[in-house]
Amino acid sequence: MGKGKLAFVGVGMIGAGLAVNAMLQGFETALYDIQPVEHNIWAALHALVDAGVCTRAQAEEAFNRGHYTDDLAQAVAGAQFVQECVAENLELKQQMYRQIQEITGDGAVIASSTSMLLPSKLQEGALHPECILVGHPYNPSYLLPLVEVCGGERTSQANVDKAVELYTAMGKMPIVCRKEAFGLIVNMVSWAALDAAKKAILGGVCTVEEMDKALMFGPGLRMAVTGQVLTISLGVKGGMRAMGAKYGQANPEDLILADGLDEELAHRPKALGQDHESVAVFRDRAIARILRDQGVLELHGEDDAP
Ligand SMILES: NC(=O)c1ccc[n+]([C@@H]2O[C@H](COP(=O)([O-])OP(=O)(O)OC[C@H]3O[C@@H](n4cnc5c(N)ncnc54)[C@H](O)[C@@H]3O)[C@@H](O)[C@H]2O)c1
Repeated sequence: MGKGKLAFVGVGMIGAGLAVNAMLQGFETALYDIQPVEHNIWAALHALVDAGVCTRAQAEEAFNRGHYTDDLAQAVAGAQFVQECVAENLELKQQMYRQIQEITGDGAVIASSTSMLLPSKLQEGALHPECILVGHPYNPSYLLPLVEVCGGERTSQANVDKAVELYTAMGKMPIVCRKEAFGLIVNMVSWAALDAAKKAILGGVCTVEEMDKALMFGPGLRMAVTGQVLTISLGVKGGMRAMGAKYGQANPEDLILADGLDEELAHRPKALGQDHESVAVFRDRAIARILRDQGVLELHGEDDAP
C-alpha cells in the first residue's frame, strides 16, 4: 500500500527542499506553483546527491514520483496533507487556504512554512481553521531535519498529531511549539543572536568575518552537537545546579533548566550520552569530526574513528 498523497503549494527554495524529502521517502507528491519548478526540485535533489545523502538513481526515481501541475485543484484533490510555501504574504496565504479547502474540505492538514505569521492569523476567514497550522523548516530545508510545528487557537490537536506523524514519515524531526510565539522556538534564539552580532560589529568590537569565524570555530560547534542549554550546563561539573554555586547566586530559572536537562538526558539515545560525562565524550568526538571535515584538525585516533 502507498503512503498516501501530499501536496506542495509554492515550490520555491523552501517548498522544493521539503518536497524532495517526501518524494525520497516514497510519498505520492503533487507540486503546484505559478511557475515551472522542475529545476528547483532538481537543484535540491542534486544537493543531496552531492552531499552523499542519496544516490543519483534514488534522486531520479524521486523526481519521477512528482506530479508537476499548474492546476491547484488537481494538486490538492485527495491529499491528506498540504504544505504551503508561497511568498510571505498573509492575504495570499489566506486566499490559498480558501481555495484549497474548497477542494479538500476538512480532509487535509494544511501546514504553512511561514517564518513570521502566527497560525491564529493564518486561520482567520478559513473554511476549516482546525486544519491549519505552521510547519516551519529551516534552510537548507532538504537537509536540516527540524520542522517546528505550531498550532493556532483553533487548530485541533488531532491535526497537530497528524502533522508530526507525516513530517516524521518524511524523515524530518518535528518539534511542537507548546504555544504560539513570534519566532517559534529557534528564531527567538537566532534573531537575538543576530541582534547581538550587529551590536558587536557596529560597536567596533569585531568585523563581520571575525564574528562568523568566532562562532564557527567556537560556540557554534558546541551548539550543533549539544544545543544551547545542555552546552552551557556542560561548562560546570554538576551542570546547572552547580553553576550558581560556582559563579554566584543560583536563581530559580537555573533550577528549572536543570530539571529540564534531567528529563532531556533521560530521553537521549544511549549513543549520544545520558549523563554529563558521557555527553561530553559524545560532544568531543562529534566536534573533532566536524573540525576534520573543515580541514582544521587531523585525527590520529585508533581506526580514525572518534
Ligand atoms: N528562505 C528561507 O530561509 C525560509 C526559511 C523558512 C521558512 N521560509 C518561509 O517559506 C515561504 C517560502 O519562502 P521561500 O524562501 O521558499 O520563497 P521563494 O520565493 O523561493 O518561493 C516561493 C514560491 O511561491 C510561489 N508562489 C508565489 N505566489 C504563488 C501562488 N499564488 N500560487 C502558487 N505559488 C506561488 C513562487 O512562484 C515561488 O516558487 C515563506 O513563507 C517564508 O517565510 C523561508
